[in-house]
Amino acid sequence: MTLGFPFEQTTTPLSDEERAAILADPGFGRYFTDHMASAGWTPAAGWHNSRVGPLQPFSLHPSAAVLHYAQEIFEGLKAYRHADDSVWLFRPELNARRFARSATRLALPELPEEAFVQSVEELVKADEAWVPAYGGEQSLYLRPFMFASEPFLGVRPAAHVTYSVVASPAGPYFSSGVTGVTLWVSNTYTRAAVGGMGAAKTGGNYAGGLVAQLEAQEHGCDQVLYLDGAEHRWLEESGTMNLCLITSDGELITPGLGTILEGVTRGSVLQLVTEHGLTPVERRVSIDELRAGCRDGSITEVFAVGTAAVITPIVGFKGDGYEAVVGDRQPGKITLAVREHILDLQYGRVPDSRGWLR
Ligand code: COI
Repeated sequence: MTLGFPFEQTTTPLSDEERAAILADPGFGRYFTDHMASAGWTPAAGWHNSRVGPLQPFSLHPSAAVLHYAQEIFEGLKAYRHADDSVWLFRPELNARRFARSATRLALPELPEEAFVQSVEELVKADEAWVPAYGGEQSLYLRPFMFASEPFLGVRPAAHVTYSVVASPAGPYFSSGVTGVTLWVSNTYTRAAVGGMGAAKTGGNYAGGLVAQLEAQEHGCDQVLYLDGAEHRWLEESGTMNLCLITSDGELITPGLGTILEGVTRGSVLQLVTEHGLTPVERRVSIDELRAGCRDGSITEVFAVGTAAVITPIVGFKGDGYEAVVGDRQPGKITLAVREHILDLQYGRVPDSRGWLR
């Protein structure tokens, strides 16, 4: 089903000079393009009032349910400019499907997959000038989101819902070369439990992670590594990214789905690594197995995957009373090769034999 996102051009776009100054050093999530996509939903009308129009603030009643009960979901994907100046999305239908699964978990209405992809495409077309130039690993980060906009303090699924997409130019994640990060294995905080919201991309998961991130920093680490909620034993996720381990006998192991986010980059890496001579394996990995593997050399590389950073090498981790080093504390060779492979696909430097670009 398509809703149609008719375009209403802003009368107050930034000038070419202002936009060029932002694109020269966009950072991440600081600047936004001239337009946004939006749509509303009520049980009676369904999805309505869909459009791409000028970027503008929402007007929300102070009792809007999202502000009180966090009934909210979001997505993150990027538009890439290729060397021939064409602009491409990477597997947006996977974001659309995850958005629908997140909506179901948060008792929000499902946005049809075609409408999700169309809203993103129409916004990118409207703000194509904001997609950074080819070269230098820049992109236009797209942030679709949906929230309970009904003014009502009762606790039940909202009957007024707002959908929107904003776009933000993003600079290279590693501006001075890919560097390895260290993880803090938190025994204080967990991210999710069986039956919880771990598989949903919802703001509450990220709000709950902020204090864990502070704890990681207090211990001199860059990010947190979450263990499972029941036994505090099984690897789940690292900060906002999925985890992958490479073994000396040629496996790429990543924790199975359930309480973690089903990352688009995670899924893509699982498919690509066979071309790097690795066998993809989804299974539980205990923190003891990770520590022992780093000690005896049977785990050779560890990395995290996500849309924002693509692939981040992990060179060490720390927990209560222990510290471990991965390999020789440098970003791993296969890690860097898989990272280049994904980027080559996204930026059109190798043939898109799987039809992942749109
Ligand atoms: C990602 O890298 O995919 C993320 O979700 C990061 C975002 C929360 C900033």
